Amino acid sequence: MNVINNIRQVRSWHTVNRGARCVFVPTMGALHEGHAALIRAAREIAGSNGNVVVSIFVNPLQFGPGEDLEKYPRSLVEDLSLCRDNGTDMIFAPKAEELYPADRSIVMRESSLSQMLCGASRPGHFDGVCTVVAKLFNLVQCDDAVFGKKDFQQLAIIRRLVRDLDFNVVLHAIDTVREPDGLAMSSRNRYLTPEERAQAPALHAALKLARDTWKNDGERDPAALVNLIKKHLQQHAPLGRVDYVSAVDAVTLQPVSATTELVVVAAAVFFGGARLIDNIELK
Ligand code: PAJ
Repeated sequence: MNVINNIRQVRSWHTVNRGARCVFVPTMGALHEGHAALIRAAREIAGSNGNVVVSIFVNPLQFGPGEDLEKYPRSLVEDLSLCRDNGTDMIFAPKAEELYPADRSIVMRESSLSQMLCGASRPGHFDGVCTVVAKLFNLVQCDDAVFGKKDFQQLAIIRRLVRDLDFNVVLHAIDTVREPDGLAMSSRNRYLTPEERAQAPALHAALKLARDTWKNDGERDPAALVNLIKKHLQQHAPLGRVDYVSAVDAVTLQPVSATTELVVVAAAVFFGGARLIDNIELK
């Protein structure tokens, strides 16, 4: 496994490996079983002749003022062994100075899908994500890239980025990996106090309750489903503060007036300083 931290080496790695299928998993490190599932999926897609590349980079551009850039967990040594154990060929782990020249003056701006859900409370966040992912796609020159459905708005925006800017990259979406009690795995779960951790699974439970009510009881009113989720959270996660709960079209991310097959119910809840997100497809 090669560990590379500068642009010059990435370019020469790419020259040596030209011709082999390259499957890319972008991450911010602090890797867990959710990331491992993405890397294993990438390994399958790449096959024995292809290459799996993982980037580890805490991207300052996607953190707003007052967010957790400084305290975002960093665990490079453990991350490297998780990557190795799951079949990674190359890790790209640059420093911020390597990717962002001090006088840089060009960034991406997404003007539609990033306005709602997480984007509403994190202005500029998805522009930062688009900028770094575009840079990484250019550097890694991947044929495929693997993303998690846990960050479902991010996935929809990356799809748009690839379409609108003609990146020659095939995207693959992987199901959310969960703790045994249903909590979606996240690098930010380690911010939770034991009391908050005990209540956090209520987020997934509430979304599942809405999905079951949609599926089994035929409830089609999005407002009723959203209320059900909020009530469940009030009851089972009093330490949580709801940021949003919304039933949206899976592609446009626009709120829906009736729930059809292509609807995702997404939610974000603050537990202390940690903001947890999760979503469920109505199907
Ligand atoms: P990060 O939060 O490290 O996530 C990297 C990838 O892992 C994303 O595609 C995310 O959706 C996926 N992921 C995280 N938790 C998961 C889980 N429990 N199950 C399945 N997949 C999961 O997302 C980012 O980093 C950054 O925004 C990035 C795209 C790297 C750009 O900086």
